[in-house]
Amino acid sequence: MDIRDKVVLITGASAGIGLATARRFAAAGAKLALVARSADVLNHLAEELKIRGSDAVAMPADVSDPKQVQRVIDETARHFGRLDVVINNVGQAAVGTIADLNRDDFRKIFDLNVIGPLAAMQAVIPIMREQGGGLIINISSVVTKMNIPGIGAYAATKAALNMLSDTARGELASEHIRVISVYPRATATDFGKNALGVRQQQPQGSSNPSDTPEFVAEKILAAALNEPDEQYMDK
Ligand SMILES: NC(=O)c1ccc[n+]([C@@H]2O[C@H](COP(=O)([O-])OP(=O)(O)OC[C@H]3O[C@@H](n4cnc5c(N)ncnc54)[C@H](OP(=O)(O)O)[C@@H]3O)[C@@H](O)[C@H]2O)c1
Repeated sequence: MDIRDKVVLITGASAGIGLATARRFAAAGAKLALVARSADVLNHLAEELKIRGSDAVAMPADVSDPKQVQRVIDETARHFGRLDVVINNVGQAAVGTIADLNRDDFRKIFDLNVIGPLAAMQAVIPIMREQGGGLIINISSVVTKMNIPGIGAYAATKAALNMLSDTARGELASEHIRVISVYPRATATDFGKNALGVRQQQPQGSSNPSDTPEFVAEKILAAALNEPDEQYMDK
């Protein structure tokens, strides 16, 4: 998709990969709806992007609450008159071996990493149907292709997201709604610091990060432009 002048909603736009992605899409000419809980950070970012000539609006919300997800999708479509791309980027880890894992932590990250993106897809699909198409980009992780001790709960949430993405891709293809999974590797953000649970095992992203958030943002933009089913960091 040529994203110039397209309306793009990004969750987790206040920090890390989402922040870098918001800046990169704005630089490429997109109009941005910025979603995260930190309203002040989003307002500053919207101002920064406007100064650089982009159209951007802050949409503070907690995406673990499907009602708030529905609200920001509806408000974005109302504000800009359409919604072309949704990037489900928010994600959080929970650390702990299967023997010790806190099940409440698992439920929390399942709500955030799986139900949140599902709610966003369900809210935007009717809008995209009416527009005749659109793009949904779900941020997964390469940990779903590995088997790393201590982050099984997080990997399980992202594996669930992969299956939702794969299924939706088939279901929506004939309606020109594309669904893309993006697979970041360890990236230098506060993701490790923000993980739930006791850090006996370091979650991915907390040690020896190989990629910058800007590098991942470039790959997410490439995914939006080229529309592959899956976008990896080494291709
Ligand atoms: N970093 C890595 O090594 C790595 C590797 C592979 C995949 N990933 C994936 O990449 C994505 C982005 O990760 P990141 O490293 O950029 O994470 P991060 O630095 O921890 O940033 C998380 C973002 O999500 C927002 N957020 C958290 N909880 C939220 C909630 N309940 N409602 C709304 N927004 C919420 C945070 O903003 P507020 O606090 O303002 O809400 C922040 O903007 C995630 O899906 C992650 O799983 C990361």
